[in-house]
Amino acid sequence: MSKTYYVTTPIYYVNDVPHIGHAYTTLACDVISRYKRARGYNVEFLTGTDEHGQKVEAAAKANGETPLELADRVVKRFQALWTKLNISNTDFIRTTQERHKYTVQEQFKSIEAKGDIYLGEYEDWYCTPCETFWTETQLLDGNCPDCGRATTKLKEESYFFRMSKYSDQLLQHIKDNPDFIQPKSRRNEILSFISEGLRDLSISRTTFAWGIPVPGNEKHVIYVWFDALHNYISGLGYPEDKDGKFANYWPATHIIGKDILRFHAVYWPTFLMAAGLPLPEKVFAHGWWTVEGQKMSKSLRNVVEPNMLIDKYSVDAIRYFLLREVPFGLDGDFSHSALVNRINSDLANDLGNLVSRSTAMVGKYFDGILPTPIAADSTDQALIDLFATNITKVDKLLDELAFNKTLNTIWELISAGNKYIDETAPWTLAKDPEQRERLGSVMYNLLESIRIIALLVAPFMPETGSKILQILQQDGDNLSLDEQDQWGGLKPGIKIEKATPLFPRIETE
Ligand code: MSP
Repeated sequence: MSKTYYVTTPIYYVNDVPHIGHAYTTLACDVISRYKRARGYNVEFLTGTDEHGQKVEAAAKANGETPLELADRVVKRFQALWTKLNISNTDFIRTTQERHKYTVQEQFKSIEAKGDIYLGEYEDWYCTPCETFWTETQLLDGNCPDCGRATTKLKEESYFFRMSKYSDQLLQHIKDNPDFIQPKSRRNEILSFISEGLRDLSISRTTFAWGIPVPGNEKHVIYVWFDALHNYISGLGYPEDKDGKFANYWPATHIIGKDILRFHAVYWPTFLMAAGLPLPEKVFAHGWWTVEGQKMSKSLRNVVEPNMLIDKYSVDAIRYFLLREVPFGLDGDFSHSALVNRINSDLANDLGNLVSRSTAMVGKYFDGILPTPIAADSTDQALIDLFATNITKVDKLLDELAFNKTLNTIWELISAGNKYIDETAPWTLAKDPEQRERLGSVMYNLLESIRIIALLVAPFMPETGSKILQILQQDGDNLSLDEQDQWGGLKPGIKIEKATPLFPRIETE
């Protein structure tokens, strides 16, 4: 098989409805998937839902329905949102599916057979909302150190995973692979956490029933995180691997939020080590969004619903905003004024104007027929060189998941295009018949700039990318950047369609 790329979102809890935080992670995965596909990779992009555990069991009970009924209902909302956001996932895994249960039980048995799972007794402080046990010393004023809520002391028979055995091996792996955990600040947090030594991990519960039973001891259900993390390989068909997906795609790039880094950078790798499987390629933890300066929460009634935003501002505007506004890895704030500013300045003004001015001029001066360029002068050459440089930069930045820097780099090209119009002053050239060929060259260079800009923005804004490419008579559906990103791709003589405004300006009071 040719080059492959495997990227995953966390699987979302079904006791919450989708909000911009969920949309953000999924969107990041979508952009990198689309880009890699355009670069010739076979991409597997997995998302899904995390449906077991006490919280779901309790939420269903409160609603007077079964946990599965609740899950079926909420899963549809996630799926509908992903369709609406133009998410190009190749699979959707639910932890209640047989294929997933099978993998989890096989993994449990296999790790147990190797001696790394044993039956013991557990006594510790449990935070029900976080489904996490804490030691006495980890508590903050007796409360959960993550969410601040009350914890209760629990004693129960439990299966344990011998995580302690893997401290050194994991530490070594992280040291040997500087890019394994990103960004760097998060990597340091994990390094210091592991240096304190890992404890064995309780991986079964007897206090509730909604989960995957422990093979051979049905009194126990498997701990939600042991269950959930395995979605990344159950989604590939491991261990049978009938379709060869595991062999072709594993290891994955996991994109997650900073709150669930420890599960992905400590628990998950040690499970994999115990099972004798390769560790993930990369775990990238992004930051959290606040809303108008406040933590987003149901009780504050400030949860931002992506559906409403998309209806109001268009899907591409939202996709752009979320990845442009904040460097990936840092926290950010969502505000309506910031969103409207971005739409008006970056999309309507910079990008929209470049496309509409350029296509309108080809219409006006050449009846919409793309002229043939003559030899580049130094102004042209500077533009052409900047494109070559920035295309290379984009490739490197996206590989690092630096979405916001990537967009800045693309916007440098958009600004350069607008500046090129001002410098070459086509309206002056148009008055002088002797400058006819020069004017033609300027038009060609502008539309060629737009073509490449459309290719580069397409992973972020698929509808916009394809609208622009359509104006230029290009196929916007099957991008192949390795063939299309060279300067000079447009054929003189083609008919350029008139552009309708891509992003209407939003009036602000
Ligand atoms: N079910 C677990 C993940 C299991 S993965 C094997 C889970 N689910 S979740 O639905 O609570 O969260 C999923 C993702 O949404 C996390 O990556 C989390 O960081 C992200 N976000 C939730 N709220 C967020 C913000 N306010 N801002 C940004 N991302 C946020 O955890």
